[in-house]
Amino acid sequence: MRHVIEPTDLSADEINELIAVAEDIELNREKYSSLCRGKILAALFYEPSTRTRLSFESAMLALGGSVIGFASSEVSSASKGESVADTIRVVSCYADICAIRHSKEGAALVAAKYSHIPVINAGDGGHEHPTQTYTDLLTIHSTKKRLDGLTIGLCGDLKFGRTVHSLIKALSLYQNNNFILVSPGELRAPDYITALLDSRGRRYEQTAELEASINRMDILYMTRVQKERFFNEEDYIRLKDAYILDRKKLSCANDDLVVMHPLPRVNEISMDVDKDPRAKYFAQVQNGKYVRMALILKLLGQQSGVRAC
Ligand code: CP
Repeated sequence: MRHVIEPTDLSADEINELIAVAEDIELNREKYSSLCRGKILAALFYEPSTRTRLSFESAMLALGGSVIGFASSEVSSASKGESVADTIRVVSCYADICAIRHSKEGAALVAAKYSHIPVINAGDGGHEHPTQTYTDLLTIHSTKKRLDGLTIGLCGDLKFGRTVHSLIKALSLYQNNNFILVSPGELRAPDYITALLDSRGRRYEQTAELEASINRMDILYMTRVQKERFFNEEDYIRLKDAYILDRKKLSCANDDLVVMHPLPRVNEISMDVDKDPRAKYFAQVQNGKYVRMALILKLLGQQSGVRAC
């Protein structure tokens, strides 16, 4: 039995295969429509979500399976003080696989330790969000046709943004990827992330300037300042609009730039960018369903018959 707590719980070969299966699912949905008949996904969401929860649920239903779960801790026995460890032991009696989101870093790892079914981390605090990363990799692969040799700009809240941490971890597995980390000084990527880039020999630069570097990027990954992780509202208000991507800034970028955002968006991307062909953040949302279908199949040991080239 395997769990996915961080993106590199799958090897680069396995990630490539996951992407190949997701791409096949997009083209041949009917082929997959009953592979999980009789299986149950538990979606345990202690923290708010639109995309991740609904895409997991939609993914399992599209595979012919069923879904149980809760969408907030208030409607579960967590509100009475039940621990994650006890909850997952209970859920293991009712479901075949589980996706868990929690505000506390490490909650998914605790769940995996006590679980009798595969656990997928659907976001744990400011730590990791591996299935968003697989979604992002599928989006990059479908637009750029490769995952290596790219210059990736990540912009915004690189300190608390769990999608950023997971994406850097995964993309640094691939050769010749360079990173431009754009953030205010207070929201820089954690040291363990830059240490990882150093240990893998990946080039990166840290800057506060988006406009000065946007023309060197193949990918621009915008992120929201994570209000819910701040201790002090004043700091959030001061930093929340540090970067707003608009048509003027985008006019300095390459024609084949791919603009991504894990969503939800607040102010980071002006709505007039949505019609630009380089804007791929709603394609990302669609990809989230396919890649989660592929991951559920993998962790349940259901064969897709697809292999990465
Ligand atoms: N990208 C993402 O995790 O969105 P939700 O918070 O809506 O699930």
